[in-house]
Amino acid sequence: MRKKIVAGNWKCNTTVKEGVELAKSVNELVLSQGAKDVVVVLGTPFTHLTSVADAVDATRVNVASQNCAAEAKGAFTGEVSVSMVKSTGATYVILGHSERREYYHETSETLNKKLALTLEQELTPIYCCGEALSIREAGTQNQFVKQQLDETIFLLPAEQLLKIVIAYEPIWAIGTGVTASTQQAQDMLAFIRGLIASKYSSEVAEEISILYGGSCSPANANELFSQPDIDGGLIGGASLKAADFLSIINAY
Ligand code: 13P
Repeated sequence: MRKKIVAGNWKCNTTVKEGVELAKSVNELVLSQGAKDVVVVLGTPFTHLTSVADAVDATRVNVASQNCAAEAKGAFTGEVSVSMVKSTGATYVILGHSERREYYHETSETLNKKLALTLEQELTPIYCCGEALSIREAGTQNQFVKQQLDETIFLLPAEQLLKIVIAYEPIWAIGTGVTASTQQAQDMLAFIRGLIASKYSSEVAEEISILYGGSCSPANANELFSQPDIDGGLIGGASLKAADFLSIINAY
């Protein structure tokens, strides 16, 4: 059965102290008021992972890194390996975010290495895909997203694909206040699910959670999450305010 997931991506925000305070507030709200059937994930900077994992109830609030090294270990100054991430208590790794693809030139080849290492360490990848505005305007977004998936997660066997959460985040909707319309989001997620059904099987497609991300807020989450193929959200700005994040968790 598809899980409902609301994952926050704090990006490059908060000091460790601020992050722990935010995590504690989210944890408290989730334990007292959060929908029980929603998986909650906090995607924090690497520096915060251990303290945040220690501050939350791991049975209700999961912790994610926003990236990981493409190598298991060794002489890679400044990199953080998946086993290091795992040792903090984090259980998810966000991979392939458009900001990493765009600003840090992450390619499908690099992402395949990161995916393999993440799966090997038994952490859950939240694998991001999504097109730029020019692609949307040209009407070629489906081909573009298909290619992103064909070159990466669709190379994996079904038993590995089943361990991945997919997040569709149109770049033009990230941090812009311009959310994809509910129909645009639903159409793309249904398209992705259809691809999985045709490449793997409809059973596999029905097991995989696919999230929408991009200016998701308490004001629009309910409508987005009411769509048949939208299994939750990857939330940037609104995940930095505990009350807003709770409203999104409870938007189903
Ligand atoms: P915003 O919710 O701030 O638009 O960010 C979305 C995002 O990039 C989450 O990964």
